[in-house]
Amino acid sequence: MCLAYACLVANQNLGDAKKAKNDEFYTQFHDIEKEMNAYLEYDENAFRGKTVLLPCDDPEWSNFTKYFAQNFERLGLKKLISTSYAPNSKPKELNLQPTLFEIESPQFDEVKTASNGKIFTLTRDTTGDKVINVDDLEWQYLEGDGDFRGAEVTALRDEADIIVTNPPFSLFRDFLLWITEAGKEFSIIGNKNAITYKEVFPLIKENKMWLGSTPMSIDLLFRIPKAFAAELVAKGGEGSAWRRIDGEVLGRASAVWFTNMDHGKRHQPLPLMTEADNIKFSKHKEIKGQGYPKYDNYDAIEVPFTDAIPSDYRGVMGVPISFLGKYSPEQFEILGSDAFDGTPPTKKYANKKKVVNGVPMKSNTGTMGCVIRRDDFGPGTYFDVGYPVEAVYKRIFIRHKGADK
Ligand SMILES: C[S@@+](CC[C@H](N)C(=O)[O-])C[C@H]1O[C@@H](n2cnc3c(N)ncnc32)[C@H](O)[C@@H]1O
Repeated sequence: MCLAYACLVANQNLGDAKKAKNDEFYTQFHDIEKEMNAYLEYDENAFRGKTVLLPCDDPEWSNFTKYFAQNFERLGLKKLISTSYAPNSKPKELNLQPTLFEIESPQFDEVKTASNGKIFTLTRDTTGDKVINVDDLEWQYLEGDGDFRGAEVTALRDEADIIVTNPPFSLFRDFLLWITEAGKEFSIIGNKNAITYKEVFPLIKENKMWLGSTPMSIDLLFRIPKAFAAELVAKGGEGSAWRRIDGEVLGRASAVWFTNMDHGKRHQPLPLMTEADNIKFSKHKEIKGQGYPKYDNYDAIEVPFTDAIPSDYRGVMGVPISFLGKYSPEQFEILGSDAFDGTPPTKKYANKKKVVNGVPMKSNTGTMGCVIRRDDFGPGTYFDVGYPVEAVYKRIFIRHKGADK
């Protein structure tokens, strides 16, 4: 048994260690290339004449730095800046040692190598081979540790036009705020769970940010430090938590790109059937021959699948979060959400009792969100609010564009 304070500290340390590990997921080249290509297909000048900042990077081995340096001329960049976080500020287990590249550089400093971040810049041909590429990157130590929240990297943010990175997941909220308060263009990787953060969803709702072109249904694979890879493998879970590809263990995360850079996919309307045709022909048994139930506590119908959105329904519809992967602002407007946008329900229940497989539970924990009235308590989880209701998990409220007119 541990004493309360010691326990708290131990748990916090464990939590911090887990967070720090999730913060060390390194993005693969082809994932960056695919996403950036989508912006370029939509606007070939998306990066032209711009200064791109890659914060929270590790420029000596980062694929972000590699991608932008290799494509510096093709993209027409004005300047590339990439910064890294000091080894001493990262988890100790990484046991980071300076690379040969750093040690052999004239500016190598035995103290700064551990305690300072680094800045890499690319603006011109330094090697004299008449091309600007990776070989022309110039570097020096930052004054501080490279924390994106510090004055030094914040000044670089202010200088930049576009910010691209995979920021530490544990600081995603702070990072997003840090970018949006400066009003910059951005493309960043974050966990799908972040969609439901109160700092994130309003930006999506107001079309100030959207999901990137990489499909939401794909879990991205990331390179991970060897020390963490061994731990992951020891825990098991191949397939869901990690995969071995060409002998290398890659961490798997349900990550998506969040961006305010435009791409073609978000302007492609979803092909949809009418309500009557869905009821007649839908491939989903929940819809075919059944229709769309109205919520008991929201003035909207339940649409459990994005491809079952009826094309001719003029009212408000509740759809799953995966809808955002198909969302086109010309086709729909987002009105709110039951779970994370505080859209008030039309009805509140003074008393509710959770009923699982017909058995009333002692504990009533669990938020209800949207509920659908049912005739009886069947197998599964229900609430007794004076009558049986079934809760559906996290719905986004949408309406066809112009349907309110
Ligand atoms: C998810 S990794 C991604 C690295 C790189 N952008 C990539 O995708 O290959 C996040 C990086 O941010 C670093 N980091 C953690 N906290 C930071 C902070 N407060 N400021 C800057 N970088 C930080 C981590 O050590 C890690 O190198």
